[in-house]
Amino acid sequence: MATKNDKPSGLEKLFEDQVADLYYAEKKLVTALKKMSGKASDKKLADAFLSHRQETEGQVERLEQVFGILGKKAKGKKCEAIEGLLKEAEEIMEDFKDDPALDAALVCAAQKVEHYEIGSYGCLVTYAEELGLMDAAKLLQATLKEEKGADEKLTKLAENSLNMAGEAHRTHKGGKSNGATNINKTKQTRTPSTVG
Ligand SMILES: [Fe+2]
Ligand SMILES: [Fe+2]
Repeated sequence: MATKNDKPSGLEKLFEDQVADLYYAEKKLVTALKKMSGKASDKKLADAFLSHRQETEGQVERLEQVFGILGKKAKGKKCEAIEGLLKEAEEIMEDFKDDPALDAALVCAAQKVEHYEIGSYGCLVTYAEELGLMDAAKLLQATLKEEKGADEKLTKLAENSLNMAGEAHRTHKGGKSNGATNINKTKQTRTPSTVG
């Protein structure tokens, strides 16, 4: 005969653990996104970081609501993954400061974070549904959608930053280019000067 057990099941424990992990991560990201925005040279990229920062503040609130549904006080648990990803982001901001590849590096660092979040929220939505916590699932799904949106936006912006870095690379390597702008520049430098 089945007996009622008041102790949390493994899945309940896992769910709570991962909610706490993301709560820690999202709070860290609110600060990190501001810093990344300040470093980006492309205005569109800087704005994208700031608008995702605003979304992230809302995501922190959603997680607080999920804690509420669980009858728990919101409390983060150190997320080693986000610590590592942000440490890497700090390093590239330092290594590539004043470098034309900085924006490309920032986009890459940010996308690694988004992919971590997409994986984590994807799991949490499934756990919440399995546990019958439909209101929590809805909240987490809303965040998952935002994370996917942010990732797609970054993919589009990656093109700009990559073009910039590629252009600088070709100039650096002696003016060979696939781009029209640089072809013109190459022609100009090859035209013998008649002045003097
Ligand atoms: Fe997030
Ligand atoms: Fe995100």
